[in-house]
Amino acid sequence: MRNAVMLVVAACCAFGVSADVKYQIPNMDVSHEAGPHKASIGSVCIARQRRWAALSVTTPSRVTIPLGKGATAFDATAGVDCGTKVDAAADFRVLASDGRVLWEGKGTRKGVGHKVHVDLSGLDAVILEVVGEDGILAGWADADFSYEDGKFPPDDVRNHSPQLGILTPPESPAPRINGPAVYGVRPGHPIIYRVPVTGARPVKLKVESEKLRIERGRGKEGLFFDPDTRVITGSIKEPGEYPLVIVASNAKGEAKKRFIIKVGETISLTPAMGWNSWNCFSWNVSAQKIREAADALESSGLAEHGWAYVNIDDFWQNKPSSGDKTLNGSERKEDGTVNTNARFSDMKGLVDYIHAKGFKAGIYSSPGPKTCGGCAGSYMHEVQDARSYADWGFDYLKHDWCSYGEVADGEGLERAMKPYRIMGEALRAQNRDIVFSLCQYGHDDVSVWGAKVGGNSWRITGDVFDRWSVISHAIKALKTVWENAAPGAWNDPDMLCVGKMCWNDFKGSRLAPNEQYTHISLWALAASPLLIGCDLTKLDEFTLSLLRNDEVIAIDQDPLGRAAACIVDRGAYEIWARPLADSSFAVGLFNKMKEPLEIAFDLAEFGMEGEWKVRDCWRQKDEGSAVGVYKAKVLGHATHLVRFIPRTDASQSWHDIRYGRIRK
Ligand code: GLA
Repeated sequence: MRNAVMLVVAACCAFGVSADVKYQIPNMDVSHEAGPHKASIGSVCIARQRRWAALSVTTPSRVTIPLGKGATAFDATAGVDCGTKVDAAADFRVLASDGRVLWEGKGTRKGVGHKVHVDLSGLDAVILEVVGEDGILAGWADADFSYEDGKFPPDDVRNHSPQLGILTPPESPAPRINGPAVYGVRPGHPIIYRVPVTGARPVKLKVESEKLRIERGRGKEGLFFDPDTRVITGSIKEPGEYPLVIVASNAKGEAKKRFIIKVGETISLTPAMGWNSWNCFSWNVSAQKIREAADALESSGLAEHGWAYVNIDDFWQNKPSSGDKTLNGSERKEDGTVNTNARFSDMKGLVDYIHAKGFKAGIYSSPGPKTCGGCAGSYMHEVQDARSYADWGFDYLKHDWCSYGEVADGEGLERAMKPYRIMGEALRAQNRDIVFSLCQYGHDDVSVWGAKVGGNSWRITGDVFDRWSVISHAIKALKTVWENAAPGAWNDPDMLCVGKMCWNDFKGSRLAPNEQYTHISLWALAASPLLIGCDLTKLDEFTLSLLRNDEVIAIDQDPLGRAAACIVDRGAYEIWARPLADSSFAVGLFNKMKEPLEIAFDLAEFGMEGEWKVRDCWRQKDEGSAVGVYKAKVLGHATHLVRFIPRTDASQSWHDIRYGRIRK
């Protein structure tokens, strides 16, 4: 398991020899960076092998890692990433903070992996430097820091600040219709939407429309509503807007919601929300586990808050080289059609099962010959594969760069865009909508061009998992890309790392509770896809409370589709804000320090004149009014997420005049 063992005892103390303890790079504080490009913690591909526990960088890069006391050694494999330009070479250096060179790998070419071993005794910090032509992808993988036993206690935020408990209030027994207010579909393509409703059961649901006749049950042409499963199906040929009114009633009252089906070219009008198998089952995924995840999405009640995608990640295909017999079939049939492995003997049946619940189904591939897990990729079979996905009924494809660097041709941006354009066109040619999720770890400014190749979202970082340094890096990456988010085109800082995942041995997220609040709050502010990564059959109350807060989810799913900008960055804290469709603003006060901090948001500085009603989104409570300056005490690594709602005399000029100006 790739990140499961973050902390390993390296040497035994059988004969009184003291033990060293190793901390892999995700445990280190990698916050201080220099150089024009971002670094991220995740994976790199060195010498044709994907490796984990890695610091992935783009040249020129200099990353300082404070060591604290008791560091003894640094071990890693350094090299140029397989995905980089052909023939790229870079100089790798490990430096002490006084500039002394501790290790050097000069002119390292792609395909070479250097074993790095550096004695760290007596050092307080180490600098990892990679220089070369601008823009080469490189990395330090399997990066371990050894410490004398008992030294370097991981300085957890829990030692410095109280932690938040469950904030989301219990569900009200009155009916409430959750989920987005808009749904995009292409003309004539199938609609499938399960209306998320909370409130005491039994709850009755009606769907009305002035423009369309709505038939009872399920169907293909026209619009259908099945009141038993609460699923809307059908298809509409004529482009245009089709407003519906959904009415939910139970013994406690009635709720109404306006919901617009927009028939046109843009799909994924709000970011995808659902679950993905990777962080939970990684290479052990099977059809049975996917069915159980779909069942759990329903039985946990998450479906009633809008979670709808059930996405299969890597390892549904064959991998002939694997020692696992269930993966040993041939990659493709004689005519080139991709084979599923023995664990997925009836893909169509599985997708039908997901659709029967009103959920959407996702699949995974790579533009390269192999996926990141070494299974069959789509290289040279894109059109055929897109057809298979459509025949099986899939609604979503995650397309992961992986081995594509080995076969990529062309120069510069064209090299980066080409494989995604090919698959984007192949998906577009199908008779159903397939949301296209680009995964190439944020390279080559993908957020600028992702939508141009048909992408509906694109990863902006390496893989994230449940470590604070990783999550805070992803938040940093969001700072430069927010402007590119729009309906149908979303920045994706990777899946949600809450709950029990294989990376934490199913013991629960290693992020502190405050950090989990920041994680979800920032993803919602950023209008990011929300894909749960944990085992849905093992949800604890705290994790569930994070995932079923409708006011927080509503920020992510806001139909205006504008992502938050970091409007104040003062080192110790940041303020992020996004305008919402109803003229209110969602604002996150993010405390980057381990200790609690009072954060002041100067409304007047942002042109927010007059009086604003303040709503605490996590607690779903009004806080009163704010005029001039709004202040809140925010616990260590937590984010206080509020909505500023204009009172009648409040000026909304902030949006027009100041939006996006970053304050230092
Ligand atoms: C890459 C992706 C992950 C996951 C794995 C599967 O690392 O970034 O999200 O899909 O590949 O092998």
